[in-house]
Amino acid sequence: MSSSGLTVLDYKALPKIELHAHLSGSISRQCLHEVWLLKKAAGETDLQDPLIEMPPGKHDYDLKTFFPLFSSYIYNLVNDAPTLRYTTLSVLRDFAEDGVVYLELRTTPRAMPAAGLTEADYVQTILDTIADFERSPEGKTLRTKLILSVDRRNTAAQARHVLALCKQFQRLGVVGVDLCGNPAVPLDARRLGPVFEEAREVPGLGMTLHFAEAECSGGDAELDALLAWRPDRLGHVICVGERVRREIVSRKGVGLELCLSCNVHAGMVRGGFESHHFGEWWKVAGAVVVLSTDDVGVFCSPLSNEYALVAQHFGLSRADICGLIRNGLDVIFGGEEEKSRLRDVLWEA
Ligand code: IMP
Ligand code: ZN
Repeated sequence: MSSSGLTVLDYKALPKIELHAHLSGSISRQCLHEVWLLKKAAGETDLQDPLIEMPPGKHDYDLKTFFPLFSSYIYNLVNDAPTLRYTTLSVLRDFAEDGVVYLELRTTPRAMPAAGLTEADYVQTILDTIADFERSPEGKTLRTKLILSVDRRNTAAQARHVLALCKQFQRLGVVGVDLCGNPAVPLDARRLGPVFEEAREVPGLGMTLHFAEAECSGGDAELDALLAWRPDRLGHVICVGERVRREIVSRKGVGLELCLSCNVHAGMVRGGFESHHFGEWWKVAGAVVVLSTDDVGVFCSPLSNEYALVAQHFGLSRADICGLIRNGLDVIFGGEEEKSRLRDVLWEA
């Protein structure tokens, strides 16, 4: 029982919205293990068992060890259409079981040349899997939209291709564009800026940016450049000084996707949960804080647990928690129809 009087199970039952979840980072270790067993039996992989590579209970991946997990491990396991379908389905199931009723899943379009998949095939496969899941009995309560990520190390041509895919698949459920990737890679805002400025002009397309995740990506030049792209939402918002903080507040209604467990386990914030900047932001008028998981497959704290954590460490009441979830509605990219469905679902709870 937490200070708010809600048990962990109650947080699961509470209908929630998740706006910052990376597809590949949300795949559970168990699911990766199942994939590995199949591939191993078929002689299709030399990789180590995911349960050995990422031992259960290990969550202390920092910025140095986290990103290689994808490039040298997960991407080599999730490397064909059936596996992409299987892992996506498992991710959707996990969010639905945790009581998530609206999910914006994000992913970096990735070609799988050995399996004959282009980036467009990759996006189409995920959208097909979402549509299949939503037609199934277990998928009835969850609606999922897709955000396509530009990696900060991308060339202008690669970023432009991501934007083209956003436009191509907008009618089928792509609702936004994201900037993600290792914050240690210097951002060339002159290279990527024109693409995001073009994205800004696409009707109905939302924009979210990983923002000030680390000291190395929290310099004035980078943050000013990102804010100049006029994003609708910002992810993490860790290393911001007073000037940038005031600028964010002055924009009224910018969504802040805050991810507690990820930041604490990865050592991105100092002082543990009670020092997390959620405590500073959640009451600030003019900002819309949305609790999110980021990479639940790696950090293993589902969204229900993130709510339990803020209740425990910041003393939020049940009314505060419900208010926080409902406020998140204002910054979803899913459009008016989705907002109206969610109003019914969230206000009934
Ligand atoms: P994917 O885009 O579905 O393949 O998800 C994994 C990718 O998301 C990683 O390779 C990173 O580029 C990105 N990502 C996941 N977590 C973070 C984060 O905390 N910061 C920046 N990028 C991230
Ligand atoms: Zn992220």
